[in-house]
Parts: sequence; C-alpha cells; structure tokens
Amino acid sequence: MADRFDFAGRTVIVTGGASGIGRAACVKFGQSGANIVVSDLKIQDAQAVATVINEFGGTAIAIESDVRHADSVENLVKQTVERFGRLDVFVANAGIALAKSLEDTSSAEFDRVLDTNLKGIFWGAKFALPYMKAQGGGAFVVTASKVGLVAQLDSPIYCASKGGAVLLTKALALDYAKYNIRVNCVCPGIVDTPLLEDFFQQLPDPAATRAAFSTAQPLGRLATSEECADAILYLASDAASFVTGVALPVDGGFTAQ
Ligand code: NAI
Repeated sequence: MADRFDFAGRTVIVTGGASGIGRAACVKFGQSGANIVVSDLKIQDAQAVATVINEFGGTAIAIESDVRHADSVENLVKQTVERFGRLDVFVANAGIALAKSLEDTSSAEFDRVLDTNLKGIFWGAKFALPYMKAQGGGAFVVTASKVGLVAQLDSPIYCASKGGAVLLTKALALDYAKYNIRVNCVCPGIVDTPLLEDFFQQLPDPAATRAAFSTAQPLGRLATSEECADAILYLASDAASFVTGVALPVDGGFTAQ
C-alpha cells in the first residue's frame, strides 16, 4: 500500500487532480500518507478520486477550483488550510492541450491556453507560497512539458505556455529559496492520458499520430501517468531536499537527442 515516499502529516494540493497525471499523483500522495486535496474543474471526477483514496485508508477531500481565476485558487488554498491546518506541497498540474498552427489559433484560444497553463501556475504560487513562507518551508511542483524545453511542430501557443511554465518555475525557485521553499517542474514527454487523446483528436489522423509519437521516443513507447507522478512525488519529497529550480524531463530520452 505505502508508496516509496513518506508524506505522513503533510498537506498536498494537486490541481487538475481528477484525471491523468494529476489523478495518479493524488493516489500516490494518498498512499504515502499525505492529507490530499484533489482539486479540479470537474468536481464529480475529483470527488471520485478522493473516494478511491479514502477507501484504501488515505485522507482526501475534493475541492472545485478553476486555476484561471484568482478568487477560485485563493479559495482553494484557504479551504485547504482551514481543513488541514497547513499546506506543505502545491502541485500546479492543471493544463489543456492545443494542437493548432499560429494562423489557425484565435485570440480566445490563446487566452484559454495561457490562462490555464501559465496564469494558473501564477495564481497557485501567489496564494500557496505565502502560507509556506509563514510555515517555514514547502515544495511547489509544476507540471510543465518537454515542449517547454524544445519546440514541437504545429502547437506554438501550447509550447509558449510550457516554456513560460519552465522559466516561471526557475524564477520562483530563486526568489523563494531563502524561505526554504523549493520550486521545481517535471517536463513529461508523451503521456497516455485523456489530454493526449484530445490532442490527437485535433489532428487529421489520430491513430497514425499516436503510433508515430510512440516510436519517436527513445524508450519506444508513451509514458504512463504513474511514471510522471513518481517524478512529481520525488520533487515534492525530502529525497529532493537540495533540489530547486530544476526542470526534470520525464520523456523517455526525447530531449537527450
Ligand atoms: P488530463 O486532461 O488527463 O487532466 C488534466 C486535468 O486538468 C483534467 O481533470 C481537467 O479537468 C483539469 N483542468 C483543465 N483545465 C482546468 C482549470 N482551468 N482549472 C482546474 N482544472 C483544470 O491531462 P494530463 O495529460 O494528465 O495533463 C496534466 C498536465 O500534464 C497538463 O499541464 C499537461 O499540459 C501536462 N502534460 C501532459 C502531457 C501528455 O502527454 N499527456 C505531456 C506533457 C505535459
């Protein structure tokens, strides 16, 4: 039952916790003894994840939050601290995909991707880090992407949002190191989640693209959500106590090429 990390007595928020990588992280944090707040736009799916964790003996609650809106994220942090009395880890994971060229992307789509994938991290940091500062420390982990490190064809706005996420991570790591707060990001490659399927469905031949993406990874396959969640738990854990400002690829070797 227990995972390889120990988060007993610690409180963890995961945004986008109802699905994919975020869901896997919630379950693993739950298995590691954390008080886990499963947060998502989709409250019923978040509640289902919390139920799974509570049923195996963990401690989880679900809180509805839209990372695009300051008041929603502020309320998420406030409710968490009211319920559990502290906040040790914030995982800014919520994100959406956009597989569109520059010329096909509307202003509304640009705003939606940047508001979710970049501004959502800003709000998480803005409201979580002051609590951690007052508490004497904490860990903030961002789910960025390998496309925040190297660009990919036909998704310039998604790449821009993830490039911003990587540099926001590094800048916050510098600013908050003096408060014993570590800020890191994982940079997943291609992970088999509902978001990936949504991304494929935006392209002309989803099945062919899935096959091509798999063989393009040096390890020859897509990652699982659990493999990305393991990296998130590592960066949040005491095992990474001297690790901050890192963008950790979890990409099967893709960015080593
Ligand atoms: P997913 O679609 O399975 O899960 C994302 C979750 O975020 C969903 O439950 C969704 O409801 C939630 N969400 C979306 N907008 C939100 C908002 N405004 N406020 C709160 N919650 C919101 O996706 P997946 O694949 O697990 O993605 C998680 C993160 O990993 C994202 O940031 C994504 O960009 C990133 N990522 C995913 C990769 C992949 O291949 N699946 C590769 C690299 C990065």
